[in-house]
Amino acid sequence: MHYGIDDIAFSTTHYALPLSELAQIQGIDVGKFHVGLGQEEMSIPAHDEDIVTMGAAAAKRVLKDVDLSEVRTVLFATESGIDQSKAAGVYVHGLLGLPTTSRVVELKQACYSATAAVQLGLAMVQRHPKQKVLVIASDVARYDLGSSGEPTQGAAAVAILLSANPRLLRVEPESGLHTTDVMDFWRPNHRNRALVDGQYSIRVYFDSLTAAWQDYQEQGGAPFADFIGFSYHQPFTRMAVKAHQNLTRAIGHKLDSDQINAQILPTTNYNRRIGNSYTASLYVGLISLLENHPEDLTDKRIGLFSYGSGAVGEFFSATVVPGYQELLRKDENIALLDSRELIDHETYLKLQDYPEPTDGGEHPIASATQGEFRLAAINNDQRIYESR
Ligand code: CAA
Repeated sequence: MHYGIDDIAFSTTHYALPLSELAQIQGIDVGKFHVGLGQEEMSIPAHDEDIVTMGAAAAKRVLKDVDLSEVRTVLFATESGIDQSKAAGVYVHGLLGLPTTSRVVELKQACYSATAAVQLGLAMVQRHPKQKVLVIASDVARYDLGSSGEPTQGAAAVAILLSANPRLLRVEPESGLHTTDVMDFWRPNHRNRALVDGQYSIRVYFDSLTAAWQDYQEQGGAPFADFIGFSYHQPFTRMAVKAHQNLTRAIGHKLDSDQINAQILPTTNYNRRIGNSYTASLYVGLISLLENHPEDLTDKRIGLFSYGSGAVGEFFSATVVPGYQELLRKDENIALLDSRELIDHETYLKLQDYPEPTDGGEHPIASATQGEFRLAAINNDQRIYESR
């Protein structure tokens, strides 16, 4: 029996800021964002959107034809949590009407925790092959205005349904791991925006990838030549290209730029338009790869590198299941991105003032979105979601 990803889908926000707008305001050549970072737009949440509404919207897409009684576990991965105690997944559980006979928990380790959720969920499915595990990765990436990280903000959620005999991807058991205690990116409890040592974080990412690849090889993983493509965590899409160049150089598989592009660029179509979505970003890249690779991927092997600053890295692999094309939603996904409302810089600045009341009062939130789920109010320090 195989275990892996039975279905996967993303959701993102109501608004998007074209990076040309930011470049113009900041007096920066837009080539730095479009070419240097590989980013065109970044998704920006409306005041009535957050990790819960995005997570519920993504999960709704993969649960459409699923018997909900089979879903007994929901693992919610995020680094932009909305409560220090209650798991965001419990709100999603309620919004989706999942069975009370289920467990829900939130996981954290920067952008890495969705991969921990996938590995934990696969172990659960292996133990109970009739059950399905729902993994939700949902994040809003926020840096200080004017900081080097500002053009790499973004927001999205990915829902991943894990099962036995999956219809999309068989995740292989070998995994390469690397953990090291470093300060490349972090967000102390008193801040709602992350702090980052940008250039250092890139170097730590490179080192983590090489070390995780080496461990993957030591654990009996497939040789480099057996992979058709690689989905990497994408804080900005150019990072995936740079990381692949660095890895191939480090392990003596020097590729020319056409070969690098063929193995990486199909993973970047959606993240170029969404921006960094932290835990979700690797899996948005995976969806892009499946939907935009020019070749038939049936039975081909894909490498996945998950990186969470601080820092944990994991390299693992999966093979594509025959018939996978029937589960893809390329047109729907492009339409979802096209349907976002493009905003100017002034509107972007107004949206920075997102609702975070501390007075314990009643704060209804005006409706800006048209999606099925919205944050309707924050009353008495409680978040009130509605489904419509
Ligand atoms: N046309 C084309 N390219 C241009 C250009 C132009 N006019 N101007 C500059 N560039 C290129 C630069 O040459 C550079 O490319 P190379 O690295 O290939 O040389 C690229 O644009 C970026 O320029 P800088 O390095 O000067 O940019 P910066 O220092 O202002 O910021 C950054 C880059 C450090 C990544 C910053 O965006 C940042 O701090 N981002 C947040 C941290 C981050 O994403 N780190 C990634 C690893 S950590 C991680 O992955 C976890 C996570 O999710 C945060």
